[in-house]
Amino acid sequence: MGRKNNIIAIDGYSSCGKSTLAKALAKRLHYLYIDSGAMYRAVTLYFLRNGVSLDDEQEVNKALANIRIDFHATPEKTSIFLNGEDISDEIRQMHISDNVSEVSAIKAVRQSMVALQQEMGRSRDIVMDGRDIGTTVFPDANVKIFMTADPNVRAERRYLELKNKGEQITLEEVFENLAHRDYIDTTREESPLVRAHDAVILDNTELNEEEQLQFVLDRLP
Ligand code: DC
Repeated sequence: MGRKNNIIAIDGYSSCGKSTLAKALAKRLHYLYIDSGAMYRAVTLYFLRNGVSLDDEQEVNKALANIRIDFHATPEKTSIFLNGEDISDEIRQMHISDNVSEVSAIKAVRQSMVALQQEMGRSRDIVMDGRDIGTTVFPDANVKIFMTADPNVRAERRYLELKNKGEQITLEEVFENLAHRDYIDTTREESPLVRAHDAVILDNTELNEEEQLQFVLDRLP
């Protein structure tokens, strides 16, 4: 409490359009955008590259101590760096999406990322999107949004995104991946995805980007 900077927390299911909305808000309000999912994806990439076994607590802790994550923001885009390497594109690939929910369910991983996220929001105005931002990371955020959308619409959007990037994938595979991630994200023990009691629900199945942006702007204090 007693924070002077503003925080907008956007939580919700995978591929609901959280990051599109968060980026638009950051641009409009001149806030810093932080994609917390990208941080869990960065950890997943490190674990996969280094063959970290997820049930070996010591190995996980050692790996976490060797991970440095930074964001570099320009007016055009925000990039994420893992130990100095730009991994913004690699973390969007399917092999990361297939493993990220298991990695982000590990308690030590969550503690480490939550501490980093809280540090990033200590003094700057930020928009952060994720699964536990309004419940765990910033329970005192100025505005909390919980996004949902029809699962078929979400799968189609993500499928087109991946296709455009040249990934060989079927719509069914994308649908399965989203359903699997929803299941793990909502049932894990450590800060599962739930709506904060004071979060406003935004169902964007039928809303365009401008309407979503206005929905949040109307709710700013
Ligand atoms: O938003 P995304 O799809 O890039 O997130 C990737 C994964 O990271 C998602 O399956 C769940 C996890 N995640 C999380 O557990 N907590 C967050 N605050 C953000 C993401």
